[in-house]
Amino acid sequence: MRTILLNPGPVTLSARVRAALTGPDLCHREVEFLDLQDRLRRKLREVYARDDTTWGAVLLTGSGTAAVEAMVASCVPRDGRLLVVENGVYGERMRRIAAAHGIDCASVQAAWGEAIDLAGVRAALGTGGYSHVAVVHHETTTGRLNDLAPLADACREHGARLLLDTVSSFGAEAIDFDAWPIDACAATANKCLHGVPGTAFVIARRAALAALEQPRTVYLDLAEYLARQDGRGTPFTQSVQTFYALDAALDEFFEAGGWRARQALFRQRMAAIRAHLERLGVRPLLPAGESSCVLEAYELPAGRTYAELHAALKARGFVIYAGQGALSERVFRISAMGDIGADDLERLLAACGEILG
Ligand SMILES: Cc1ncc(COP(=O)(O)O)c(C=O)c1O
Repeated sequence: MRTILLNPGPVTLSARVRAALTGPDLCHREVEFLDLQDRLRRKLREVYARDDTTWGAVLLTGSGTAAVEAMVASCVPRDGRLLVVENGVYGERMRRIAAAHGIDCASVQAAWGEAIDLAGVRAALGTGGYSHVAVVHHETTTGRLNDLAPLADACREHGARLLLDTVSSFGAEAIDFDAWPIDACAATANKCLHGVPGTAFVIARRAALAALEQPRTVYLDLAEYLARQDGRGTPFTQSVQTFYALDAALDEFFEAGGWRARQALFRQRMAAIRAHLERLGVRPLLPAGESSCVLEAYELPAGRTYAELHAALKARGFVIYAGQGALSERVFRISAMGDIGADDLERLLAACGEILG
């Protein structure tokens, strides 16, 4: 029995992606690697149909946080000012990243589970002086898909540029690169794209990376990566095997119909799980329509602990995910990403029925 990962990344791999990991040994200075890197950068831009003139895809070796840190540290100019919009762990992390790099930064906070505080953002932007706004698209802490269209309007009105943490939404949720004033979005291979951990990336507006004469970081300097990768090079050793896996995962992604098809697939899975859990008396944390298609958080039923539910499901081949921080006693999370078949889903629903029925 294979174990199905229902945590929000890493995901259950397809046989094709797993097989790609055993590709040939390859030096990152060889032409074959540089061809692979070029191909990946092109495919990543194509996920949301971005042209190479305005946008650059930068490939990094690291987890999603590496991409987020690279974006924040590389995109806010020395005389810039950042407003971080928070309603969960990953918004808070961006504030910590900005502080670590000495970036002039303030935040507008909403409680975990609540929508972002748009009125607070408007008030802060109204005081002037913010060059950038950083926000998490899908706040994986609670499953909430933050409503970015009105935030984007507010940014445009005040001349602020958007930095998006799309780590758990890239490839499955709409990102309106044309309408929103996006300077960069950071993401990873091992969530909605179904690759393996180890490769992260940033899709950046080329003009946005010209701002820093003196970089804040050596390893995570996006302008340096962009220049070197455009010149068919790499500043550092890359995780070659995880690049192979992402290449295969992106082929599967496009063959299956791209981000809209992936969104439809995840929605279908999440709807089946939600309907079944609700029949079993398990309540979702957020009202219908406010969670992403990627993950949903559920209230632990009275008298059940996360540890007991996790263990019972793991014994049946399914790994769920705990709540974070203050939510750890209250919720569990289920994600729909990865190579999950209809038979796996049926087994999951049956297992939930056995344990919670
Ligand atoms: C929205 C979001 N941002 C950032 C991260 C951090 O990613 P990583 O754990 O790969 O560094 C995660 C991880 O789940 C996430 O969901």
